[in-house]
Amino acid sequence: MRNYYIAGNWKMHKTRSEAADLARALVSSLKDGKHKYLVAPSFTALETVGALVKGTNIRLGAQNMAAEEQGAHTGEVSVLQLKDLGVQTVILGHSERRHVYKEDDALINRKVKLALKHGLEAILCIGELLEEREAGKAEQVCETQTVKGLEGVAASDLANIVIAYEPVWAIGTGKTATPEDADAIHAYVRKVVGKLYGADAAEKIIIQYGGSVKPENASLLMAKENIDGALVGGAALKAETFVPIALFA
Ligand code: 13P
Repeated sequence: MRNYYIAGNWKMHKTRSEAADLARALVSSLKDGKHKYLVAPSFTALETVGALVKGTNIRLGAQNMAAEEQGAHTGEVSVLQLKDLGVQTVILGHSERRHVYKEDDALINRKVKLALKHGLEAILCIGELLEEREAGKAEQVCETQTVKGLEGVAASDLANIVIAYEPVWAIGTGKTATPEDADAIHAYVRKVVGKLYGADAAEKIIIQYGGSVKPENASLLMAKENIDGALVGGAALKAETFVPIALFA
């Protein structure tokens, strides 16, 4: 049985004091929660939030990192700096990184391997654009992003990989994929993982859904066989909306 994994991606929101308020509320509301939890604040709030979630059932995540360990990379943040702050997980290949900041599969793959090398858990985000879905290419796009994202990743490292399926047309739009449509892609991606790493690995890998997850649709999505959790954006910014998702029945 796979564990549910509910993650909040706070994107470019919140000052340190706002982030601390939310972290404190989540620590208290989720302390008896049965699932696996993560919050991913901005880099600037990692230290503040890290101090509050340390020793709790909420993991500390970053939203991105550089593909190099250190060097002349103005404006980038390194895996060593993240580890120094107690970061346990890093979100990589988010659609906003792919489409707004033009990160390609090869770059994302280097980041995935670097994160694993340093013992971080990596959440590899995949997902098709609306025009790709309309052209019947959703599976193909997700397959390519999965295969290229995981290129060179050893089977022994797969326990530190989570895949997040986030159809780009569902992110921040209020349009959620139907549980059936999302489950179909999750099942397909699980098959792709099976082809790469075998049936046992496919059965074990956690595949989160992201894209307008709300308290109202969380349990319907989670009820699906292949949906193992959520990567939540907008609704992760308030305890009132994140807690019911995290504690979904
Ligand atoms: P929304 O939940 O705001 O659609 O964002 C999803 C997302 O991009 C999480 O990484």
